[in-house]
Formats: sequence, C-alpha cells, structure tokens
Amino acid sequence: MSNKAYITTPIYYVNDIPHIGHAYTTIIADSLARFYRLKGYDTFFLTGTDEHGQKIEQAALAKGKSAKEYADEISAKFKALWDDFDISYDCFIRTTDENHKLGAQKAFETMFKNGDIYKGEYEGHYCVSCETFFTDSQLINDEYCPDCGKITTLVKEESYFFRLSAYQDKLLKWYQDADDCVMPRAKKNEVINFVKQGLRDLSITRASFDWGIKLPPSLNDSKHVLYVWLDALVNYISALGYGTDEKNFSYWPASFHLVGKDILRFHSIYWPAFLMSLNLPLPKHIAAHGWWTRNGEKMSKSKGNVVNPREVTEAYGLENFRYFMLREVPFGQDGDFSQKALIDRVNSDLGNELGNLLNRIIGMSGKYNNYELDSSSVLKFYEKDISTAHAILKNVESYMCELQTNKYLEELWKVLTIANQSITIYEPWTKMKEGKIEEVSAIIALTANLLAKVSILFSPVMPKTAQNIAKSLGFELNAKSYEQLIINEGLLDKTIITPIAPLFPRIEKELMSTPEPAVQIKEIKKELINADKFFASKIQIGTIVKAETIEKSDKLLKLFVDIGEEKPRQILSGIKVYYDTKSLEGMQVCVVTNLKPIKIMGLESCGMVLTAEDKDGITLITPQNVKSVGATVK
Ligand code: MSP
Repeated sequence: MSNKAYITTPIYYVNDIPHIGHAYTTIIADSLARFYRLKGYDTFFLTGTDEHGQKIEQAALAKGKSAKEYADEISAKFKALWDDFDISYDCFIRTTDENHKLGAQKAFETMFKNGDIYKGEYEGHYCVSCETFFTDSQLINDEYCPDCGKITTLVKEESYFFRLSAYQDKLLKWYQDADDCVMPRAKKNEVINFVKQGLRDLSITRASFDWGIKLPPSLNDSKHVLYVWLDALVNYISALGYGTDEKNFSYWPASFHLVGKDILRFHSIYWPAFLMSLNLPLPKHIAAHGWWTRNGEKMSKSKGNVVNPREVTEAYGLENFRYFMLREVPFGQDGDFSQKALIDRVNSDLGNELGNLLNRIIGMSGKYNNYELDSSSVLKFYEKDISTAHAILKNVESYMCELQTNKYLEELWKVLTIANQSITIYEPWTKMKEGKIEEVSAIIALTANLLAKVSILFSPVMPKTAQNIAKSLGFELNAKSYEQLIINEGLLDKTIITPIAPLFPRIEKELMSTPEPAVQIKEIKKELINADKFFASKIQIGTIVKAETIEKSDKLLKLFVDIGEEKPRQILSGIKVYYDTKSLEGMQVCVVTNLKPIKIMGLESCGMVLTAEDKDGITLITPQNVKSVGATVK
C-alpha cells in the first residue's frame, strides 16, 4: 500500500433512522482510518447517505413528505449521529449532492462510450426493499425476495443494460490474482462460486419513476433515471471528485470498502466491473462483516427489537460500545447484542484488566515514588518482560490490517496481562520493605510503559480512553510517541503521573431502559397521544370522481376527490397495484383534509386518503353507508 489510505463505509439508505448495524460498519471504518492515521498514512475516510430510488420515495410518501424533504431529514440524522460519535470522516457524501450527480453521469457516459451499455427491455421481478432485480427462478414461492423475504413486483420497462456478462472472466481473474481483494476468504469463495454460475447483463436504469439521477444530457433521453445501485456505488469515486474536481483523486483506489455481507455482491461483482469499464484501478480490499442480532433474534422494526446506537451509548458510554463491538465478534461472523455481553466485557476486560492496571500504577507511583516515572532501570531488571511484550506488539498490527479487530484487541490484552502479572510476581511492596527502591521504580515504569504501548495501539478503537491514559501517564499520544514506543521499541521519558478517577466503574445492572421483552410495550406507550392530538387531523368523507394513472409511477394513482369544496381535490395515493382506475370512480373514501399540500414526482397532492395495510396488501377505508361529501369522520 502507498502511504495513502482511502477507507469507506457503505452510504446508508435514508428510509429510516440509523441502527446498530450502521454504527458497527461506521465504527470499524473509523477505527481503521484512525489506525492508518496513527501509522502516518495520509488517510481519507468517506461516509454518507444513499438517497435515491423507489425505497426512499415510498418511505417519504408513507410519511407524507417529498422524497427530498425526507432525505434531508434522515441524512441529517445520520450526520448528527456520526458527529456525536466523533466519527473522524473526511467527507460526508449525499447522493443528492450536485457533484455526485455529475460524477455518476460522467461514469454512465464513459461506460456508454466504451460500448458497455445498450438499450433493451427489462422484464423481471424487483424487490424495492433491496433495490434488486431477480429472475423467476431466484424467487421464493414465485413472488418473494430471496434476500429479505418481502413481496416483489413485476417490472416490464425499457431499460439500459450494462454488459456485465462480458466481465465474468476478467472478474474471476481478478479474484484469483488479488488475494485479499474480497475478505474474509469464505465470503470471497461465495462470490467466486456465484460468478462462475454465469453473469447476466444488468439493468442500470429505471423508467417507471423519477426519484433518481437523470441520464447524462449527451444521451438525450429524459425517460430514465440511473438504477440506484449504480448511482450509489459511484459515490466512492465522485467523493474524490470524479467528473468534477479531481484534486483528491490520488486517494483512489480504495484501500478498504467496508460493507455488510448482504451488500457484498454489489461491491465485489458490479462495482469492479463498472471500474473495469471506466478503466480505473480496482479497490484493494472489499471487506464484508456479519450481521448483529439481538438476544439471538434478527432485528426488525415489527419485533420492536432494533438496537438504537444512541440508546446504547447513553447507557454504557461510547468507548465501551466501540470496544464491545470490535472485540466481541470475529470479523465476518454474525454477532449478538445483549446487555449482559456488553456488561461482561466492560467489567472484565476494561474494568479488571485495563482500568485496574492504571489504578495500580497510579497507586504504586504515589505510594512509593512521589508520582515520578523513571524508565531508566527497566531494562536492567525487566528486559525479558519488555521483550515478550514487544514480540506480541510487533505482530499485532497485521490483525488490524486484516480487520481481525477481535484478535487485535485480544493480543493487546495479553500485554496488559503481562503488566498485571508482573506486579503480582515482583511484589513491589516486598521490595520496598527490602529497600530495593531502584527495583520498585523499575516495576512501576515497566507496567506504565506496557500500558502506554498498549494504549497507543488501542487508541484507534477507544480514542478518548487512550488519551486519558496518556495524560495520566504523562506522555503525548501522537505519531511521535507511536514511533518512539512502538516502532523503535523505546521507553517513556521521565514524567510525572497524574491521578485520575477510575476509567471503568463497575456496572452492576443492565442500564438500558428498554430491557428486551419490554421493548414493544415501551414503544407503544411512547406513541400514545392525547385525543386533542388525534382531533388535530381533520378527516372527512369524499367521493372519488376520477382516477388516473401517472406516467412513470408503478405505485401511485392520481385521484380527484369531491369533499364538498368548489372543485375536487387532487390527491396522490400509492394504491395503483391494488385498484384499477375505473373501479375507483364513485367510491367513497376517508380523506385527511387539513394536511399541507406536498409535491410528489412534480405533482401536487392535497390531502391523504386513508387505507389499511397488511401482508395481503392495501385497501381503502370506506364508510359502511353512503354519506354526504364533507361529513366528518370521528
Ligand atoms: N445504501 C446501501 C449501500 C450502498 S453502498 C454503495 C445499503 N444501505 S443500508 O442502509 O441498508 O445498509 C448499510 C449497511 O448496514 C450495510 O452494510 C448492511 O450490511 C448494514 N447493516 C444493516 N443491518 C445490519 C445488522 N443488523 N447488522 C450489521 N450490519 C447490518 O445497503
């Protein structure tokens, strides 16, 4: 690797607020970026939000907002969370940014010019939740998404295709030549097997809705928008100025694209194929992590068991959370979040082994040495302990480069064990009684040096804790001390130790106010409202006088509803799949009539028609008997 490092997270969909899975990817990426910075690499760390596509459009519609308005709101929530979590990103990209749009259009245009894009017709199934196309044979029970289990929709529309099939052999060669291009190995093998089964050309535009990036003007075709995955993947180069201002482009290729296992296929097949078509170098590593479950169960909104990262850090602290996530699970495997597991890690690894060591050093140095730290006699008495520790520290960095953060931390903790044990074995209190003052001072310095070295190396994972320890031990934690204590295997200069409060007070009980089984009840209670809030909505009976389809929308219908006003109101409703326009005319419905008008797909919608939804789909709510238009619903 050159002395530049480029590290990315996936860009997160803005259909919902951040959860623990997003925090996991981001925290690993942040730790990796901090690690490379510590090692002196010129590092660029990218994160951001993925804002186009049907999934977002539908989520916005369900909230009665325009897609842009909704994307602005949720994107800001991601950014605020990462800022509060002190995530050290260099760029937060949004796919609605103008520069990104230009970059994506340039990529499309270049692939087109290179002969990799052609026009055709797509017919197949589409899962909006995964934003993925599927063939008949891939579906479960003829209609359900094989990845998320949700119902798919049949799509038949004109589309531009990318010649993915032409890249099959080139991809296989890349997997073979670039050993760690996809990590971990087991996942790489899955990708290779998938590609060997044959790749079909990929539909890369959509024509049935327009919440996306338009095709480049040179194609002169306003009917299509880019397929959201093409749009999204290009963020990794548009963030470096591809297609606009390329002054940061020297960071390319990416050192690490961190992704969850569910989106590995897009990153390890489509993305390198797009890059080959663009004649750009391929990423060095695409690393896929596993999924988090909660108490052994998959997290989902309907179960009410989704872990909110803010709640965890408010209860247990950010540094504890970071340590837990990176220590608990081997990279690539699924992990389980439980408060018990987190508390165990904090009390045992952090409290007993790390926090206690610092307390003991502070205590010994105060009692025996006037808080002075002097390393000059360490090698004279304890060279063996120091060199055992150095042997561990020498190898530890490779674990981080392979993203085996659990191993990395485990090895560092072995050095803490050496330090803790040396106090027990060398008994400074006995040596003090024997008048061996130089040796006592050397024991204190031995343990302080070991703690200092370990702190430098865990600083990418727990930056604040490492800084606090450094302050207490009296050294500056920076590239210089990394060089002095880790690279050169040197020792701390003479310093004065400053006592600080215990870093990891013991946690005696679960601290999150949403203990597992009660989650759903609490969620519901939170949502209880007073009657006056309900009556703030004005709901009236209306009669649909006309219903029309909307070009480019396979969800929405345009309804004209008479609610006794001068003229019928225009209301857009996502019921196209369930009703044909003729059957709606004359039907009475319940309408929320005091909503602020909004624009969807450039059309105004003045109100909302009430529907009920279950697994079988959506139905309109109608009065049992015909009522006068404008009648109030209570
Ligand atoms: N927008 C796409 C990514 C485009 S990147 C060019 C996307 N977004 S996402 O918001 O749905 O997911 C982002 C990441 O969160 C993925 O890496 C996914 O694996 C991760 N996680 C979502 N749920 C998760 C868990 N329960 N556990 C761990 N990570 C999971 O996909």
